[in-house]
Amino acid sequence: MQILRANIIFTPESTRFQVVESGYIVVAGGKVEGVYQTLPEEYQHSPVTDLGNSLLIPAMNDMHVHASQIRNQGIAMDQELLPWLQHYTFPEEQKYVDTSYAERMYRHFVHTLWRHGTMRVVAFASVHLHSTLLLMRLLDEAGMAAYVGKVNMDSRCPDDLQETPGEALAAHEELMRQYGHDASRVRPIVTPRFIPSCTPQLLHACGEMARRYNLPVQSHLSENLSEIALVRQLEPESLCYADAYRRYGLLGQTPTIMAHCVWSNDEELELLRQCGVMVAHCPTSNFNVASGLAPVRRMLQKGINVALGSDVSAGHDFSLFRMMVYAIQVSKMHYQRDKTCRPLTLAEAFWMATKSAGQFFGNVGSFEPGYDFDALVIDDSELLIDNSYTPLQRLERFVYIGDDRHIAARYCCGQRLTEPQR
Ligand code: GUN
Ligand code: FE
Repeated sequence: MQILRANIIFTPESTRFQVVESGYIVVAGGKVEGVYQTLPEEYQHSPVTDLGNSLLIPAMNDMHVHASQIRNQGIAMDQELLPWLQHYTFPEEQKYVDTSYAERMYRHFVHTLWRHGTMRVVAFASVHLHSTLLLMRLLDEAGMAAYVGKVNMDSRCPDDLQETPGEALAAHEELMRQYGHDASRVRPIVTPRFIPSCTPQLLHACGEMARRYNLPVQSHLSENLSEIALVRQLEPESLCYADAYRRYGLLGQTPTIMAHCVWSNDEELELLRQCGVMVAHCPTSNFNVASGLAPVRRMLQKGINVALGSDVSAGHDFSLFRMMVYAIQVSKMHYQRDKTCRPLTLAEAFWMATKSAGQFFGNVGSFEPGYDFDALVIDDSELLIDNSYTPLQRLERFVYIGDDRHIAARYCCGQRLTEPQR
């Protein structure tokens, strides 16, 4: 058992922070037993780790990121989605046929997640099985939890990034053999890249793999107008883009995350709600490749679960804290167009990166009893001009102007994670 003392902040609901100033959190078997203002009698004789004036918050969950694009982070921002994929992204992903290149890049990726306090990810690797297995091993060795997708694609991309449905199935058998057991914190996820890069045969195979192995699904949905026009041509029988995934067994038949949904109309959002799909909102990506302003308030009003994703390398920033800021800023711009969509609050943005996202992994992202103890210790002393800030103001300043230098410790499932080797 461990007992920590700090200024504890988390979001049990989207609408409110719970703050326990100089409070105690009791952790046993990697899970939270309780958060207390005064330590209950039964724990009086247990040792307490006093974290002083630090903030203790749930760790970050990045629900959409491309590990195989890390070398392109911060470059190649001058095209919209479809030409961006052809000119910059596919040529980079081709390099992952070489596992030694993949290892160098993936070590950097895992280290970068750690640095930014992201303890769980839902990631795209590349089409290559052996490099994907390597990424899974590195995340596992770092002590992180993840869903990692070996990308599935066979259309509108270079030949050496294409696979047959049979190859996709065989790869998933191997992924299940190595990472399919219940105790594994790093697990596979079926990853059809998006409708335009998959033939109907491969999409069918993906739906079949999800069903057969009871695997979750991730993909991209309604990100860019040219992409949506292409999907309409490719799938004339589908009612909307999301309906095309549904018809292949890839929309909520197993737990599903769809990135973006920038242009989803009410009908498509309704389908996402009915199918229990989680939306990964990726605001920096939507800025950089000029996709648009996602209607996040509308999604929340409908009761859709929304989480945040960095979407590196269309997104340029790994920080989920900065992602909260961008999400709030986007919501303010969207509000100026549609006054029925009030801007997001800090509590809502924080909840998206913690408890909302965490549902995909189980009881994750909060400090309520029974939740996995995934946490960050924030030492913001450098940011405090005087001592008149409330704990919530300190959190807000850290979110807006802090960075990885202010993260003093990181925990995943109760275990303190040391710096991974680069
Ligand atoms: N749609 C299909 N592939 C991608 C990708 O790699 N990044 C983004 N942002 N959108 C995609
Ligand atoms: Fe993406």
